[in-house]
Amino acid sequence: MSSLPPSTVPAHVAIIMDGNGRWANARGLPRTMGHRKGVETVREAVRTAAECGVAYLTLFAFSSENWNRPQSEISDLMGLLKTFIRRDLASLHRENVRIRVIGDRANLRSDLLPLLLEAEETTRLNTGITLVIAFNYGARDEIARAVRKLAGEVAAGRLDPSAITPERIGASLDTAGIPDPDLIIRTSGEERLSNFLLWQAAYSELMFVPDFWPDFSRETFLAALARYSMRERRFGGLQPTLAVGS
Ligand code: IPE
Ligand code: IPE
Ligand code: MG
Repeated sequence: MSSLPPSTVPAHVAIIMDGNGRWANARGLPRTMGHRKGVETVREAVRTAAECGVAYLTLFAFSSENWNRPQSEISDLMGLLKTFIRRDLASLHRENVRIRVIGDRANLRSDLLPLLLEAEETTRLNTGITLVIAFNYGARDEIARAVRKLAGEVAAGRLDPSAITPERIGASLDTAGIPDPDLIIRTSGEERLSNFLLWQAAYSELMFVPDFWPDFSRETFLAALARYSMRERRFGGLQPTLAVGS
């Protein structure tokens, strides 16, 4: 169990699971082996987050730019998601995990979309941790889709432009109803967001860890949560001690 007081546990942790290919390369293995090992890390990360009282865990599984990879790697990644849902849905459901999928659902393989919908539908009423799977997800694409939707409502005369507030935009994104991530972790040592949750990350704490995703252990995750609990978040305001008497 986590030893952190509940008030310092982030409600929403989002992870850019990076470094599968390099993990495999370092062992003289094909990249796909890194992705396979990465799925085991996913299982462990969901368990650890749930156990610590994290309410939402978002995992970046496939980006809208990952289509630029070789076809064989793309089908490996699609296949892995499919196997993950097939094999793990029952146990995730048993563990009261609620699944949400974010990202563009148009043009997804016809064998994949029904599985994603089934995962969401089966677990819809679960009350444990929400596992948000970002698949075929890109923040700019998500924002563009939201803007198109809002523009359509304005054009149809159902929405006044003055009603387009940050809240309204947030509610039009794939993440509608999900609180912004408190903590975004990226593995593999890269220090960039790569088009992940750009709108929602406005005040997220960012953490970059050197481990490749397949090596991201429960201990590393717990250490990241402990480091998060030491961060001071100000949201543009003042440190509470300085704000007193102002
Ligand atoms: C992350 O690992 C998994 C996905 C992007 C799907 P990578 O495949 O990006 O591995 P590296 O970054 O090339 O090592
Ligand atoms: C980000 O990793 C996407 C996922 C983890 C799914 P990438 O490996 O695609 O990002 P870049 O290309 O290094 O920025
Ligand atoms: Mg990468």
